[in-house]
Amino acid sequence: MNELSNDVMASFYRCRRADDFIETFYKSFLSKSPAIAQKFAATDFKLQKLLLRQSLLEMICFDRGLPGTHEEIARLGRSHQNMHITPEMYAWWLDALCEAIRQHDPDYSSALEQQWRYSMSKSINAMLSAGETNLTEEN
Ligand code: HEM
Repeated sequence: MNELSNDVMASFYRCRRADDFIETFYKSFLSKSPAIAQKFAATDFKLQKLLLRQSLLEMICFDRGLPGTHEEIARLGRSHQNMHITPEMYAWWLDALCEAIRQHDPDYSSALEQQWRYSMSKSINAMLSAGETNLTEEN
């Protein structure tokens, strides 16, 4: 466990106090590219927002090295590989998340954003490599 991930966890809880934190994220994310909006064309956003809230916490716990989190992150990576989610889309995802944090965390700073980016990149990289393993297994 490290001090940086404590800052990210505290920021997550401040953001969560705003009812529209996840809403802001999806608005920003969907506007990044028509390719993103297309992927979510048939999505039930009420459920999707709950799932994302949960997985953000999972990603913070993964950064903190909590047991069992790697399996869930790897599962997410495989599920997203199956949906043909590209590394570029993950970069948009992270940009949209940082925009939502900037808007909803009253203690936002660019240093804090860097901590978020570092923390989330660990899970994103693990998701991408789990997806690659999946590809190798399938081919
Ligand atoms: C690290 C980043 C991401 C996290 C934590 C995340 C999380 C999730 C979760 C928890 C689900 C529910 C299904 C499941 O558990 O497998 C899901 C579904 C989905 N995600 Fe992501 N996601 C991420 C990145 C992305 C990106 C970059 C895209 C690109 C478009 C994307 C598109 C989708 C789509 C299309 C679904 C299915 C929605 C539906 O059921 O209609 N996700 N995501």
